[in-house]
Amino acid sequence: MMRLAALLGLSLASQALAACSRATLQEAAASYVRAQAAGKPELLNLASDASYAENDTPMAIAEGVLSQALTIDFDRSIHDKAACATFTELTAATSPHPYVIHTRMLVAPADGNGNSSSSTGTITAIESVVTDQGDWIFNATGHLHWTRQEDWGVIEPADARRDTREAIRAAADAYLDQWADPSLPVPLGTPCARLEGGIYTGQRDPAANTCRMPAFPVPIRAGNRRYVIDEELGAVDVFNGFPWLEASDPEAAMPSSNLVRVEGGLIRYIHEITVCKTPMCGR
Ligand SMILES: *[C@@H]1O[C@H](CO)[C@@H](O)[C@H](O)[C@H]1NC(C)=O
Repeated sequence: MMRLAALLGLSLASQALAACSRATLQEAAASYVRAQAAGKPELLNLASDASYAENDTPMAIAEGVLSQALTIDFDRSIHDKAACATFTELTAATSPHPYVIHTRMLVAPADGNGNSSSSTGTITAIESVVTDQGDWIFNATGHLHWTRQEDWGVIEPADARRDTREAIRAAADAYLDQWADPSLPVPLGTPCARLEGGIYTGQRDPAANTCRMPAFPVPIRAGNRRYVIDEELGAVDVFNGFPWLEASDPEAAMPSSNLVRVEGGLIRYIHEITVCKTPMCGR
């Protein structure tokens, strides 16, 4: 009995230790921003077999936007210690070629006993949703204008607005699920504002809940969801595939990402970027 208890205790401790430290994740995300600003992926501490993809297409980093220097006017990152993952939103409005980019990265954890090895902290996967002119309501100037006015500050553990990982994820999932079934409830706060491409729903009345979505003409099932969750910032990003929007190919699940801020179980901010095949998805 004692032995079993000891084993269980050990395995729980190992689970806790297997996660990444916030400092490790912060350094990984900061190095990503530096690398993209310089167009120098070699500034990243990459695993030798690291994967790289843009808009759901695997490619060599040398072929990607990460190898092109960008003027980054604003960036925000969130850090998922349990999943050992980071998410970064880059707004490059004054770059000669403007972009808004969402990137999630996976980082190698310490081993099961919490010990670092040579691989700990290396970046094992990078995937980005890369939007520019012609993508859904793209306007990097507008994106920059609104994102820098928002408050995504730390929510302390004693703060009533602090949520669990599960609650943060559930709020974002409810928002996406409602696209398939308009009768489903979504925990939107007041105020709530959505930055969609470069358009801001909170422009006219910043104190109102302007996040409610009208029903789509067809149910939208946004699948292939990939999450990065940060309890400290009340934030989650959901990479997903968004069907129907691209008029030239409605069956295609277009690369899309929703960054959501949750406060006390209620959605405060949503940032959506979605890639199009044809200008403005042909709409
Ligand atoms: C982009 O956003 C900026 C700032 O909100 C606005 O002044 C500009 O007119 C927008 N451009 C387009 C093409 O909508």
